[in-house]
Formats: sequence, structure tokens, C-alpha cells
Amino acid sequence: MENRSQWGTRLGFLLAAMGSAIGLGNIWRFPATAYESGGGAFFLPYLFALLTAGIPLLIMEYTIGHKFRGSAPRSYSRISKGMEWVGWWQVAISFVISTYYPIIIAWAIMYAYFSFGTQWGGDTTTFFVADYLQLADPGTFGAMVPKVLFPLLAVWVVVLFFLGRGIKKGIEVANKIFIPTLVVIFLIIVVRAVTLPGAIDGLDAFFAPDWTKITDGKVWVAAYGQIFFSLSIAFAIMITYSSYLPKKSDITNNAFITGFANSSFELLAGIGVFAALGFMAAQTDQAVSEVVAGGVGLAFMVFPEIISQMPASGLFGFLFFASLVLAGLSSMISISETYIAGVQEKFNVSRGKAVTLGGGLAAIISLFFANQGGLNLLDTVDHFINSYGVALAGLFEVVAIAWFAKSLKDFQNHANEVSDIKLGTWWRVCLGFITPIVLGYMMLQNLKSELT
Ligand code: PHE
Ligand code: NA
Repeated sequence: MENRSQWGTRLGFLLAAMGSAIGLGNIWRFPATAYESGGGAFFLPYLFALLTAGIPLLIMEYTIGHKFRGSAPRSYSRISKGMEWVGWWQVAISFVISTYYPIIIAWAIMYAYFSFGTQWGGDTTTFFVADYLQLADPGTFGAMVPKVLFPLLAVWVVVLFFLGRGIKKGIEVANKIFIPTLVVIFLIIVVRAVTLPGAIDGLDAFFAPDWTKITDGKVWVAAYGQIFFSLSIAFAIMITYSSYLPKKSDITNNAFITGFANSSFELLAGIGVFAALGFMAAQTDQAVSEVVAGGVGLAFMVFPEIISQMPASGLFGFLFFASLVLAGLSSMISISETYIAGVQEKFNVSRGKAVTLGGGLAAIISLFFANQGGLNLLDTVDHFINSYGVALAGLFEVVAIAWFAKSLKDFQNHANEVSDIKLGTWWRVCLGFITPIVLGYMMLQNLKSELT
């Protein structure tokens, strides 16, 4: 087999995998999702989803990459010629995400800068939508350039720089810098947040269990959806990353470490975010339930307001947005590597060419999206990718491997040969039955909510 690039160290691989997993999903998606889906009671479906789908699928993706040593399309085609398209489907989804994900990182860069002197002023929503994004006046393209397009270009320069340097000298080095820094910064933020007045009310609201939600199918769909997105499963990422593992690598153990590290970060983010929301509720005389938000609204409208009310707002604002930038960059590198590896192997071109072509094309599309007219488009694309694209990708993947590959048992044996933890029948049951059923149900639920 070809002389494939490899990770320098086990820690390097783990940090890269964690870097992909830990992202905006942990910081702004998990807290709001958990809160809306039963608070403390959500941990039951969440843990169930982690153990029956998240970690088993992660083990499977690590096994595929490690055994077949190729980008996702190449690995699938080595399992069976007719499966190559499953890999391309996943690569295509990652490509689309990589055309809008960096825009959010670019906003975070500008907001880290705006933190000094809390430049968003008193009305953070108007500032974001009208002043910053200039949605109110979509003729002023020129004014967008320094505020959105420059930071976006900076994101691409950093991402393509590390990707161009390859696995060990590029991706591994980037994550060895970004992830430890992110953890330190985030711990500082969380400690600050939980010591703010009102923090405890926020935590109470977050952890208060609403057990009636447990019987709601939608809550279980939310739990599985969160786990898939959060662990970067079915995006071709983990297959690509594990294809650079040395022969002697403990697959199963690595999957457990990645899964638990990601969930720990998620829990930490939930605590930090809700402590901060509790503080804001106390400052503004509102109930915590009135200030809860997720996604773009949480990061660019609610958090600036919280930051303005905090002592040393410049410093903590900078740290908060820096953490979004670091978490975003490491995820962004991982999504882009899927098509760079795919193109490189399919067309037999050098890494440099694949980075220039693939990354260059994605960068140009992202510049177009960043234009204010692209913002609604961005929402729509994100919605369809997350409701259907990924669920379908996961479904194709488990059905192909569990039902159409020669034998799931071969995969199990491969993982068991190199791993300390030995997989048993439970693993095949999770992949062959539980996950496809859940993903099928998820698709139907999403379709149903589309129509009603
Ligand atoms: N896993 C990342 C997160 O939790 C999101 C992500 C999904 C990143 C797909 C890359 C690709 O934020
Ligand atoms: Na995550």
C-alpha cells in the first residue's frame, strides 16, 4: 500500500479528533438543546444516545479509516466498489458546511475585537443585525469588506496554511496549539461565570429535570441529533483522520476518550452558559427562561449584553470570542481535510494542488455567502444539511456497513485485534438495529415537522 502520512503521536490524533468534535455545537447548541429537552432529565436520553450510537459509530469510523487507510470515498470503495458514493455524499456535506462555518468564525474574530470598549453599545441585537451585518441596508457592500471579508480571508489563510503543511506538521500542530489553549480559556470563563451573582439561578434552571419530556419522541431525536453533530459523525471526518493512524493504535479506547472528552466539554459549556444567563437574568430582573437562547443569537446578541454587564468586560469578552474562534478553527480544519484528502486520492494530485483547488473553491463560495444577501441562504442551507443531509449520511453509512458489507464481524475483529477494550455483540446490535431505526425515525420526524 502507498506510503501514507501519519500522525506523529497518539496525543496528536486525539487532539485533532477532539478538535473536530469540540466546536460551536458544544458551546451554543448543547446548552439550549438540553434546556429545552428536559434540563436535567435530558441527560438520560443524551447518555443513551452517546453509548448506543455516538461511541459505537465513532469506533466504526475509526475502524474503517484504520483498516482501509483512505479518504472516506477511497475507504468505502475498498469495502465495496458500489459504496464509494456514500463517501462522496459525506464529503459533499462537509464541503457545503465549510462554505459557511468560517463566516461565523470571522464574526467571532471581529467580536473579540469589539469586546474592547464593548463597541456593540446598548442594543446588541440592532448592532449585530443592522450595524454589523448591515441587513437593514443591503447596498453597502463596500462597508462589509473590512468588517466581514477581511476576517474571513484571515480564517482561510490560517486553515489552508495548516492543511497545506500536511498531517503531522500541519493539522497536528494546529490542534496541539488550539485545543489546550481553548481548554484553559474556557475554564477561566466558566470559573468567572459561576462566581457571578445570579449564577446559581441559571444553573438551577439548567439542571432542573422535567421528567415528563422523557416520553416525548422529539426529545430522543434531539439527543441523537446532538450526539451525531457534536461528535462529527457521518461527515467523513473521523474516517479521514483515523486513516492516518499508525498500524498499532488502540481504536476502541481512542473512541471512548474522544466521546467522553467531547461530552465533558459540552457539560462544561452548559454550566458556563447557564451561569452567565442566570447573571443576566438577575441584572435585568427577568426569569432565566426569558433570556435563554442558542446559536447565533446566543453568541452575537445575548453574550455581548452579558459581557457589557460584567466587570472587566473587555477581557472576558475577548476570551469568550477567542474560545469560539479556536473551537471553530479546529473543526473547520477537520471538515476541509475530508475533501482535500478525497480529491487528492481520486485525481492523484499533490496535497498542495488539492488544498489550492478544494480550499480555494470553498473560500470563494464562502465570500459570496458572507455578502449580506447570502445570510438567509445560509440559514436555509444549514437547516437542510442538518435535518436531512447528515441523518441520511448516517443512515447510508450504517446500513452499508452493517447490512451490505461482507460482514460486520470483520470490522469487530479488526478493532478487537488492536484494542484493549473488546467489542461484543452489543456493538453489532447498536449499529445493525438501534442506530438505523433511530435515524429512520429522525428523518420521518424532521419531514413531519416540515409539513406541519
Ligand atoms: N462537531 C462540531 C461541533 O460540535 C461540529 C461539526 C460538525 C464540525 C461537522 C465539523 C463538521 O461543533
Ligand atoms: Na461537539
